[in-house]
Amino acid sequence: MKKIKIAFFSIPAKEKNYLNKKFDKSKYELFFFKEELSLDSSVLKDIDVLSVFIYDKVEKSIIDKAKNLKLIATRSTGYNHIDIEYAKKKNISVCNVPYYGENTVAEHTFALILALSRNLHKAYIRSQQSNFSLDGLRGFDLRGKTIGVIGAGSIGVHVMKIAKGFGMNVVAYDVKKNHILEELLDFKYVSLDELLGSSDIITLHCPYNDSTHHLINMKNIDKVKKGALFINTARSGIIEPTALYYAIDKGIFGGAGLDVFEGEELLKEENQMLTKNVSKENIEALLKRNLLLRRENVIITPHMAFDSHEAIERILQTTYENIISFFENKSYYKVV
Ligand code: NAI
Repeated sequence: MKKIKIAFFSIPAKEKNYLNKKFDKSKYELFFFKEELSLDSSVLKDIDVLSVFIYDKVEKSIIDKAKNLKLIATRSTGYNHIDIEYAKKKNISVCNVPYYGENTVAEHTFALILALSRNLHKAYIRSQQSNFSLDGLRGFDLRGKTIGVIGAGSIGVHVMKIAKGFGMNVVAYDVKKNHILEELLDFKYVSLDELLGSSDIITLHCPYNDSTHHLINMKNIDKVKKGALFINTARSGIIEPTALYYAIDKGIFGGAGLDVFEGEELLKEENQMLTKNVSKENIEALLKRNLLLRRENVIITPHMAFDSHEAIERILQTTYENIISFFENKSYYKVV
């Protein structure tokens, strides 16, 4: 029997070991690459399954090269790095991992909120320099404050539950409303403008797509309650970059916790600028990021909200089950 060929890209050694143990080698042949997906990869022309992560861009050219491809299995919830329409046109299925990290991402969201509200990041740097002064470190209580959740899906709902534990008021903006949930969790659906104007903390948990591209932008940024904290663990394109810099500059946002950042997928390290062909836009994005990094009220984390031991195991297990189920005609987390 011809073996099913699967290529995993952007896969660290530990994750490779986990998957290696799972698959039945009499049926599946596995190829692992710690590097990101590239059109130059010679394995593409033979594989049945392509498994990728968020920085692996599955574009038309990749799909065209992979002539035997039947399934694209992304090891993430978001799938905006895959040309879904083209995959559909070519009769290639796409699956994702929708529920691995609602608590994981929600917990990181609160790590950012608490760091900013209690100035933990400033205190940490100071105490390392043996400076234990309280000057400028006074924080604010979360209890009684309003948190505005944009995108009340699995992660958003988990954020709401944690917020309730802190005694916060919760408002949410979503294109789909679940009024039973609204009553059960004691929050209120409001319009986007109302959320921006009433929230002390604004946190993004909707997907990035045409409907959410620059959802917060230069036209509505002035509606934000002055001094609100802004948290983004979703995708950078949901806020117009100019609006983000403007709001931080003008004190419209009192602080920002950003796990996702414009240009993050292109330039993870500055020294890449020396070896990669870097466009003017990327250089601009990097400069803006560095300007923000110097600000005391901005915390940037390297797209790590998903990255806990437990979540990674759930991602790998679901990816394995997705692939097996696809070939056994059982149900799996199908995107298209
Ligand atoms: P979900 O699909 O369960 O929830 C998304 C919610 O957003 C849904 O309720 C949906 O109705 C709502 N929504 C869709 N379009 C909207 C619009 N135009 N305006 C307002 N609301 C809208 O997704 P889940 O699992 O909660 O994940 C949300 C996002 O978080 C993912 O799409 C992904 O981009 C991001 N994410 C980030 C991670 C990280 O490591 N930083 C890890 C996992 C997910």
